[in-house]
This record gives sequence, C-alpha cells and structure tokens, in this order.
Amino acid sequence: MAIDVLLGLQWGDEGKGKIVDYLATQYDVVARFQGGPNAGHTLIFDGKKFVLHTVPSGIFRPGLINLIGNGVVVDPIVLAEEVASLKKAGVDYQGRLLMARKAHLILPTHRYLDAASENAKGKSKIGSTLKGIGPTYMDKTGRNGLRAGDLHQANFQERYEALKEKHMRLLAIYPEVDFDLKAEEQRWMESIELLRQLPMVDGEYFIQNALDDGKKILAEGAQGSMLDIDYGTYPYVTSSNTITAGVCTGLGVSPSKIGEVIGISKAYCTRVGSGPFPTELHGEVGERLRAEGGEFGATTGRPRRCGWIDLPQLRYTIMLNGVTQLVITKIDVLNQFEELETATAYRVDGKETRQLPYDICDVDLQPVYQKHPGWVRDLDRVSSYGQLPEQARDYLLFLEDQLEVEVTMISTGPEREKLILK
Ligand code: GDP
Ligand code: IMO
Ligand code: MG
Repeated sequence: MAIDVLLGLQWGDEGKGKIVDYLATQYDVVARFQGGPNAGHTLIFDGKKFVLHTVPSGIFRPGLINLIGNGVVVDPIVLAEEVASLKKAGVDYQGRLLMARKAHLILPTHRYLDAASENAKGKSKIGSTLKGIGPTYMDKTGRNGLRAGDLHQANFQERYEALKEKHMRLLAIYPEVDFDLKAEEQRWMESIELLRQLPMVDGEYFIQNALDDGKKILAEGAQGSMLDIDYGTYPYVTSSNTITAGVCTGLGVSPSKIGEVIGISKAYCTRVGSGPFPTELHGEVGERLRAEGGEFGATTGRPRRCGWIDLPQLRYTIMLNGVTQLVITKIDVLNQFEELETATAYRVDGKETRQLPYDICDVDLQPVYQKHPGWVRDLDRVSSYGQLPEQARDYLLFLEDQLEVEVTMISTGPEREKLILK
C-alpha cells in the first residue's frame, strides 16, 4: 500500500480542507505532516462551517483515523479549542484523533518570541500568523524543543521552566511587545491536560503498520509549496517543508511509499503576508477577485493579495512535488469576468524565462500574460465536466497543456458537494 499526498501548489489557502474532507471517505487515515496552527482549513457541509488548524480534515468522516504527525508543531491551546468545538458539534473524535509523540509543542513563549521577532523586523516583516511556528521549529532544529510525548514524563514541568527561562533571556534582546504571558501560560497549562488524554502513538510505526494492514492513508499538507522553507520565496516563507518530501520526514515514511500526489491550485492566485507575488493585481481586478473569492484569511482574517494564475510558478511546484493529479478550486470566482489572464512566462531584466529566478525577492520581474475569454455565467447547476461552459473547459485544457498534468477535480463552490470529477 502507498500513501497518497494532497498539498497546496501556491502560497496556501488553495482549498485543501474542502478537498481532503471530500476525499476522506476513500481513506482509512488522514495525517497532517507539517505546519501547525498557522494553517486554517475551511470545511462547509450541511449548512455548517468549520475551520481546522491542527486537526486533520478527515475528522468529520465517521470511523476515519486522524493523525497529527511528527512533523507538526502543536499549540495545546489551539488544539483544545478545536476539540471543544468538535465536541460541541457532536463529532465523535474519541479514539479517532491520534497524536504523534515526536510532534513538537508550541509554548506561550514561542508565540511571544514570534511577536517580538516580527515586530523587530519592521518593514521587512514576514507577515507571520504569529502562532509561534518559526520559534518552535527553531527550537526543534536547535535541539531544545519539547515534544508531545514529553508530557507523560516525570520531569516535564522542569523542562518546561528551563525552556521558558531560555526564551525569557532571548526576549530581553527585543524591544517590548504586548503579551500577557501569565494569562497565556495559565491557558496553556489547562490545555495540556487535554493533550495528555489524547491517544499518543509512535507515528512512524503507526503509519507503517497501517500500510502493512492494507489501510489507505492520505497525507494532508498545510500552507503551500511557495511557502516551503527551502524552495519557497525565502525569507518570506514558513518554517517547514511543505512539499512532498516533507511527508517522508513529517510522518516517517520512505519515499518509495509515496503514491498519488494530488496538487491543488486556485483558478487564480492569492497570497497572505509579505513577499514576492509576480502576478499580484493592485487595482480594480485584484479587488474584484478578493470580493468574489471572499479572500480573507481563515486564521487571521487578513485580506489576501490576489492575482492571475502563474504558470511558471505552478510548473515549478509541480516539478518539486511530483504532482500526478491537479485539482483546480474556486473556478466559480471567475464566473463574471469577461476576460481572464494567465502568466505563461516571466520577463526578467528584459529576457523571457519560464524559470523562477533565485533573486525573485529583488529582481525586476514582469509576467508575460495570455488572455482568455471568460464564460460570464454562473456554475450553480453544473455537476459534470461536460456541463461546464466551453470557455471554462478551454481554460482548463489550456492549464493541462501548459502544466503537463491532468486536472482530475474542479471545485465550483465552497460546499462539500460543489465538486466536478473529470
Ligand atoms: P486551505 O487552507 O487550503 O484549506 O483553504 P482555506 O480554507 O484557507 O481557504 C479556502 C477558502 O475558499 C475557504 O473559505 C473555502 O470555504 C473556500 N472555497 C474552497 N473551495 C472553493 C470553491 O471552489 N469556490 C469558492 N467560491 N470557494 C471555495
Ligand atoms: P493554510 O494551511 C496561507 C504565511 C503567513 C506568512 C508566512 C509565515 O491555511 O494554507 P508563519 O505563521 O508560518 O510564520 O507565517 O506564511 N502562511 C500562510 N498563508 N495559508 C496558510 O496555511 C499559511 N500559513 C502560513 O501569512 O506570510
Ligand atoms: Mg487556509
């Protein structure tokens, strides 16, 4: 058995939550492999809306196991809130939500450090979600971190205090920021009790045993490939490997176990936070995409920057991830546009290229656009590929042709059932 992967090919918020929730019925296990509560995955079904930050998006499908994998960083406060809202909604998560022991914990002082470090960056700030992601991964690679499994060890409190003290010494180098450490610490201490009660597993053995038993596993990505710590638009990235390779380290599976790689892209492009975004539209068209697409962050509520789909960018992330199937989401957002554009190449210092330049953050880069006719009608009653307007099918065919990968699903609205299988 292999493990399939579903991940975002842009700068996050491609609609991963919706598609994982839809696909989950075909799997026995859904596992998050990286990131943390910087993620906000929206699911809409039966007239209800849920935004998940740490809990995998398979949780609403009865019987399915959901694993928070080794590569994830977990804030007990956020997780406790998520679990409370699941409980309130009557979701039976007991025994179905598992925690990998090697996942690192986000302490209140990690969030404090995130805020202080962003604040000190001034104009060059990353636009972090301030969930403590960077400082927690720094402690992981710096070999200082606390892991979920440590919660069951006798010296946990001692180790917590030691790490907190270290953070306090670091905080002294930054200008002061508002952070109510006492209150946050109290919430944290209450929340770790819930974490202590969740079933914990050695994630790598759990996954291997599940594969040996013939179980089907879906790895759910967070963020998007352009936010990858190694291959994204550094330094305007997150602190984990968001690409397929991150599944191997984040869940403890070998590369030979990777099966289908399902990449997701919006029919246009968005980014939240700072950093380069070649096809960003600053005027009326960008505003219109934001309004039609409801482009405001699921975690922070910040307005997302919007622009046309960027094919050099997508070719790059399809290459990095070994994408075998493409899902195009939010095609309905383009419904009322008379004309659409796609960036097919870049002009960098006057020369045309299909590659992303190393110095993408600094270089003079102009996208080369191609125009496409819009379909100017709604897709409310469209339930099969053949019913899509001709212009929409042409647009999708163009994407397939340019990206050399097959589009297998098209999402036509935020609700679970608004999905066309090709
Ligand atoms: P994720 O982080 O990749 O899971 O995506 P988010 O949940 O942050 O953002 C996607 C947003 O688009 C959410 O508000 C979804 O409800 C919404 N959405 C998902 N698919 C579609 C779609 O096909 N059409 C429209 N209009 N909205 C969608
Ligand atoms: P999902 O899983 C979109 C962005 C932040 C910021 C940068 C670093 O919902 O797609 P961090 O908090 O990681 O230090 O922020 O990454 N970012 C996301 N943007 N979707 C996300 O997750 C994101 N997670 C982080 O806005 O620019
Ligand atoms: Mg999101």
